[in-house]
Amino acid sequence: MPEERQFPPRSNRRLGSPGPTRLDTVTTMQISTTASTSAVDDTRLSEILANPGFGTHFTDHMFTVEWTPDLGWHDARVTPYGPLTLDPATAVLHYAQETFEGMKAYRHGDGSIWMFRPEENAARMVRSSHRLALPVLEVPDFLAAVESLIRIDQRWVPDPEGEKSLYLRPFMFASEKFLGVRPSQHVTFMVIASPAGAYFKGGVKPITLWLTEEYTRAGRGGMGAAKTGGNYASSLVAQQEAIGQGCDQVVFLDAQEGRYVEELGGMNMYFVYADGSIVTPETGTILEGITRSAIIELAGKLGHDVTERRFSIDEWRDGVASGEIVEVFACGTAAVVTPVGSLKWDGGATPEVTEAGETTMRIRQALVDVQYGRAEDPFGWMHRVV
Ligand SMILES: Cc1ncc(COP(=O)(O)O)c(C=O)c1O
Repeated sequence: MPEERQFPPRSNRRLGSPGPTRLDTVTTMQISTTASTSAVDDTRLSEILANPGFGTHFTDHMFTVEWTPDLGWHDARVTPYGPLTLDPATAVLHYAQETFEGMKAYRHGDGSIWMFRPEENAARMVRSSHRLALPVLEVPDFLAAVESLIRIDQRWVPDPEGEKSLYLRPFMFASEKFLGVRPSQHVTFMVIASPAGAYFKGGVKPITLWLTEEYTRAGRGGMGAAKTGGNYASSLVAQQEAIGQGCDQVVFLDAQEGRYVEELGGMNMYFVYADGSIVTPETGTILEGITRSAIIELAGKLGHDVTERRFSIDEWRDGVASGEIVEVFACGTAAVVTPVGSLKWDGGATPEVTEAGETTMRIRQALVDVQYGRAEDPFGWMHRVV
């Protein structure tokens, strides 16, 4: 049997177009493995894991699987990590037809390795791929791909001290050599992994946000809810503006009225009221963060009344000024929960808060403890890999 046919071409549908849907929950993907002969040695690996930073070191292997309309997904393989050779006419380089995910593997105190709600990342990639007219990689196959890489590169998952983890980057892109605006007839899905250090060195510190009133991130019917590179490309100029204003991150408002808070360049937002209730902007044009949805459940369990609704920038400014809003925080896979110290805009700023709020830190701790296996997992979020 030729290698291309190892993986049955059943997942050849694009969401949104009619096609077979796999209902099985178990992968049938056959993954071939070629182990690296130039893996990083143990001494170098301990140096890297002592101070991994973020997104600069990559593990010894990578996962790849290809898709074509006639074969579906095929030729799944784990191979030594290395550069890709792409034809200059490869579609993704011109039309940005791509999606990606961001998730982490955590080592627990007993040495076991776990992922946090990975099926949610898989499901979000299905939704993103739908929006980008890419084929569907079914949830069990996504999980098998990510797990195969974690297993072979398990020595790269750092010890839990200092909130270290192995960051996983699944991504799918238009790999057909073709110039023209139509969905690619050749698609590649890959997973790479990179050890990640603590986001906050020396303790969790509040960040400062810049409100951009010129740039928006997503409009109605646009790609805001999809995790696709174009959204991040379009956020860069606003993020540059934020840095220029002495801020850490940019806040985007809705494109239609310029009135409602959407999210940051890479995190969702939460507002804590003096009475303990919590508000987070509703979904639609924002990325449906997996941390965001976990916090909705977790904060509810901790006794907070959590509401998802449109939340205006005036409510933010007035609420902080009146003392009605007592804490603001952002959340996402990278930093888990990040306190917000102040919001600046052209002509003003909210009062500076220099310490992380109590509710913010309680939620953060509760989440991190589940992720690192230091607390019960009442929602069944953790998924053991090794
Ligand atoms: C634009 C944007 N919003 C929100 C998030 C938070 O999502 P998650 O909690 O799934 O990491 C991210 C992180 O990837 C993001 O890029």
